Amino acid sequence: MFKKSRKQKRNESDHSNIELDLDNIPQHVAIIMDGNGRWAKQRKLPRIKGHYQGMQTVKKVTREASDLGIKYLTLYAFSTENWTRPKSEVNYIMNLPVDFLKTFLPELIENNVKVETIGFLEDLPNSTLNAINKAKVETQHNTGLKLIFALNYGGRAEIVHSVKSIYEKLAANQMSSDDITEDMINEHLMTHNYPDPDLLIRSSGEQRISNFLIWQASYSEFIFNEKLWPDFDKHDLIDCIKIYQSRQRRFGGL
Ligand code: FPP
Repeated sequence: MFKKSRKQKRNESDHSNIELDLDNIPQHVAIIMDGNGRWAKQRKLPRIKGHYQGMQTVKKVTREASDLGIKYLTLYAFSTENWTRPKSEVNYIMNLPVDFLKTFLPELIENNVKVETIGFLEDLPNSTLNAINKAKVETQHNTGLKLIFALNYGGRAEIVHSVKSIYEKLAANQMSSDDITEDMINEHLMTHNYPDPDLLIRSSGEQRISNFLIWQASYSEFIFNEKLWPDFDKHDLIDCIKIYQSRQRRFGGL
């Protein structure tokens, strides 16, 4: 048993001679983009430089995800807990979507990418909200990759929100408790338009879910990549997909 798990580990880290199977690309990839601060610290730079470089990685990974035919790419850009960071850092992160879209929206449009979001957007500054809404409108008819930013998102807060809306329907006699099923709860989540993530990647070597898609990731394959997010590149994405392809998904069955 122990021997087998050690062997599996060795195989997973050595994926250089595995071919990518283009017929088995995960349809939904979700990423916890971690390690911006450490990347900056290693270079004796302010943390915001790490976030800036992290934004450049978002561009590279988006291009590759689109080229590979991934249908949904969900990126954890700001959690409901990130507000506790120093105000200057929060302000900088809040401005990243503005910067990102100013420089990248034309390419997203050209490549048929549709920008979407999950999270409590009402708490974001107006400038952030305006940039995102503009991107949503200008990409609304695109049919390619759905690029979903999780902004002011938290899995627990999302579940609380969904329970409240279900309760309101019960209280208004629009449904009975018998109507509460997994599908029905799914329909009340912010992700109701998306399939569950097949693959969940976290960069920087940390091995936690950090309140990201906690309901939706029940059967996702988790891959913890050692690279700090600003260093993560398209080859790392491909390597993660190769590892995903080498795993057997059983969804609780045999
Ligand atoms: C976590 O790293 C990263 C964040 C909280 C911010 C993530 C944002 C980006 C990567 C840019 C997003 C881009 C757009 C377009 C919205 P950390 O700061 O916790 O790193 P550390 O653990 O090394 O300190």
